[in-house]
Formats: sequence, C-alpha cells, structure tokens
Amino acid sequence: MSIAEAEKIVKFRIQRFDPSKDKKPYFKEYEVPIVKGTTILDALIYIKQNLDSTLSLRYSCRMGICGSCAMVINGIPRLACETQVLQLGEDIIEIQPLSNFPQIRDLITDFKVFFDKHKKVKSFLIRRDTEEQFNPKSEYLQPRERLKEVLPYTRCIACGICYASCPVIIKNEGFLGPEALAKAYRYIGDSRDEGVEERIPTLEEYPYGCWSCTTCSTCKLNCPKEVSGVDSAINIRSIMIEKGKIQPTLRDALESMYLHGNPWGRIRDKRSAWIQDQNLSIKDFTKNEKAELCWFVGCTPAYDPRVQQVAGALARILQKVNTDFGILGNEETCCGNEAYNVGEMGLFDELKEANLKLFEKYNIGRVITTSPHCYNAFKNRYGKISFEVQHYTQYLAELIDKGKLKFSRKIEKIVTYHDPCYLGKINEVYEAPRKIIENISGVKFEEMPRSKRMSLCCEGGGGLMWMDVPTPRLGEFRVEEAVEVGAEIILVSCPFCLINLEDAVKTTGKEDKVKVLDIAEFLSEVI
Ligand code: FES
Repeated sequence: MSIAEAEKIVKFRIQRFDPSKDKKPYFKEYEVPIVKGTTILDALIYIKQNLDSTLSLRYSCRMGICGSCAMVINGIPRLACETQVLQLGEDIIEIQPLSNFPQIRDLITDFKVFFDKHKKVKSFLIRRDTEEQFNPKSEYLQPRERLKEVLPYTRCIACGICYASCPVIIKNEGFLGPEALAKAYRYIGDSRDEGVEERIPTLEEYPYGCWSCTTCSTCKLNCPKEVSGVDSAINIRSIMIEKGKIQPTLRDALESMYLHGNPWGRIRDKRSAWIQDQNLSIKDFTKNEKAELCWFVGCTPAYDPRVQQVAGALARILQKVNTDFGILGNEETCCGNEAYNVGEMGLFDELKEANLKLFEKYNIGRVITTSPHCYNAFKNRYGKISFEVQHYTQYLAELIDKGKLKFSRKIEKIVTYHDPCYLGKINEVYEAPRKIIENISGVKFEEMPRSKRMSLCCEGGGGLMWMDVPTPRLGEFRVEEAVEVGAEIILVSCPFCLINLEDAVKTTGKEDKVKVLDIAEFLSEVI
C-alpha cells in the first residue's frame, strides 16, 4: 500500500499502553492508506512496519482460523484479519484491546483466566473404556443426528470475542462465559462422551455456571464462526433440569407457568383484572367480540402493579388512534419464552400449543405484543405461524409513517433509550422505538455509548427475573451510563427492563437524577 495508490486515507485511533512507562492507556492516531480489500490487520501491520514499530499486536494465520487477532473495532469485538476497512464505511476507526481481558500491552490481552475456564469444563472427550482407548478395535462413531447437534460448537476458535462481548463478565468475573459453556456442550452433547457428571458441579454452580447467562445473545451476534454460547447455556440448562438441579425460585416460576399460565404465582382468573382496575373497556375475543388486531398483553403487564401502568398507557394510545383491537382475556397464557430460555422445553411446547390453539380458535391474523420476549417467542420459537406479529413499537412507528399517530403536546426532556436484548440484538428492531421518541416534539435524545448491538443487558432474560442476582447488577451500570449522558428519563420497551432499571435507579440512589418509563407511558403523556 502506498499513499499514491490509496483509495482512501483512514485515521486509526489505537489504544496504546506500555506498562513499563504508561500509568494508564491512551489513544494515538495514525493515517493509513487503504485500498479495496485492506483488512484492519493489514492496516495495523502497515502502521507497525511504516509508522510506529512499537505497536504490539497478536496475529498468526491471517485467515480467520487461529483466533489470535481478535480486538475491539469501533466498539465491537471482531477478528482484525476478517474485517475490511472500507466495509466499515468510517473515516476514523477506533481500535482497542478485547474488553473483559486484562491488557498486557497495546492490543495484546492476557487469556489466562479465559483458558482456565476452558480447562475447568474439561474440553475433551471423557471415556471410561480404557481398554478400548489403548487397544482400539474400531472407531468411536456417533449417530448423524448427534453429530449435527454438536457440530456447530466444534467451529469455535477460542478467539475470545464472545467473552469480550459478554455483559455478565463485566460484573461477575467468575462466570464461565460463552466459550467455556459452548465447549462444555460440545462434549456433553457428544454421544461418545461419558463425562457429564464430572462437569455438572462446575456448570451448575451459581453464579458462575450456566445459570448466570442472561441469553442476551451478544456473544452469538459477534461470534465470527456463528457459535451460539446462548444455545449451549440453554442446552446445558435442559440437562440440569432433567437432573433436578435448578434454583428453587426458578422452579417455582416454572411451576406457576404450568399451573396458572404465568410465572408470577398469580391465578389465571385474574389475568385481565387490571382492565377494570383502570376503568378501561377493551374488546375480548374470548367473549365473542371481534377485532382486527389481537394485543397479546403478556404475563408481567397483566399482573405486575408497576407494569400494569404500561398496559393501561398502551391501551389508551391504541384507543386514541382508533385501532380496532382486542385481547385474549383470561385465556391468554404465558408465551413460554423464558421457559425455553431456562431449558424447560416440555413446558415451552405446552405453552406454545396452548397459545397457538387460542390464535386459531379466535381466528387471529395479526398480533402485537407489549413484551419483546413474547414477540421473540412467536416470531422465532413457535415455528410456522399463521399470523403476523409485531412488537408494539413497530406498530406505533408504522402509524407515525402513515400519519395516524400525532403528538399534540410538547415535552422538554433529555431522554435516552435502553435497547431490550429481545427486541434489539435478537430481532434487530433498533429504529422503530427511536422513530417514536425522535418524533416527540421538545425531546432531546441522547444515545448511550453502549447501544443497539452492543447495548448493555438489564439482566432480566434467561430466567434471571426469578433468581437472586448477585450485586452489582447490570441495571446499575446502565443507570450510571444514562446519567453520564445527561438523561432525565431512561425509556424502555420491555417489562423486564422497566422493573430492573427502576430497581437500579433506587439501589444507585439516582432517584433525583433520572427516572425510567416505558415508551408507551411516555407517549401517553403527549398524544
Ligand atoms: Fe488468525 Fe486473524 S490472524 S484469526
């Protein structure tokens, strides 16, 4: 590469740190000539060879196999040798060492703890038949179906990207993390392995084993080999449940889903009591009332006193814009998304069948959900469905586009938005909530540095709503981030985020600085 041949000159801001002379890391800038196909690794090697020989980085294969060139590129952990500079479409590229790892020097991080966890789950086939091992008479074969199950996990190159992406490790350094869980399942799921019992003590230990995964899916989203740490955690949890190794509070929530159709231990006949309590009148499909759209209210908005206010606000908005909608009343049952996330697949299937029967019975063609978790269950986990499903923010954003949702009042507030994992990262719905917020006159929107695909999880997914989460909580970090950007209101669009962030405002003592509202509540103040 030379300046004359360059298609573009790109500025690289690289985090530097030499422990022999620097007190703390700092950024240094370099200008690099870029042509089509130049990778981040090519650019870093150019800097090292032509501009600054002191830059330290790690690489080997230069073809996405060894995993040694992982680093944070414009806020996202990626392989430098697989990331093309021009495809990023940026004039300035910021490079940092992998987060969640100690920095040794410049872009070189210390993988000791990571590999200790890798070893802890015994990342190898465990066999008892020593005779067969030392005097093999045939190959160890496994059924094709089993092979298909574990094959995706064999692609892991231990680059550390999932570990750097994982929000849980920020606060819980002892958590095994996605790589170790994926490796554990790669062997536990292998029909030739006989080591499940040996691995269980490590995997069940709370809060370090499989139960701390929030299923936020940042690891899966960033993995260069499409390995799913989340799915491995869920699969391991299924094994734990089969063996009766589950937190008692989580077991109670699952039992309640089975008995009452909700995880909160509340009776089924009171599911729609919130409607009367708020003096609302809403069509009910189960009372032979017909409507164009079915609003799937969800368990938490139906039963939790705080989130019932969100349900009330959303009902009023829908009525104000003349949406012809109805609900499934007391027949609505838990969507099962969290039963799936904790690995209780039998229960998930029952809840899925119950809801699908309801949608069929009442001839439902279009559904909106309050919760991203219900949206995800219907969209991604119910298989082929015969109805269209949207999260309510998508529906309202469409109404804005059609000119049917107008705002009559101004609200002068500085707000930020916290992306719920099950709406953002998992379903890539980033713009609809922002469109609603940005259309409200007087609002000053401040994005938090960790947003969209790198948004910080509230720690409500993966069954953690019903487990005693050790402090500090991720919600507390999130509240601090919101206060740092000057937000007076943190807007959310998920019942779990609302509960967790509101708790975090209290535990961080930030009640006088910031409050948490669902977008529906905020919106109901201005239409
Ligand atoms: Fe081997 Fe990038 S240098 S993966």
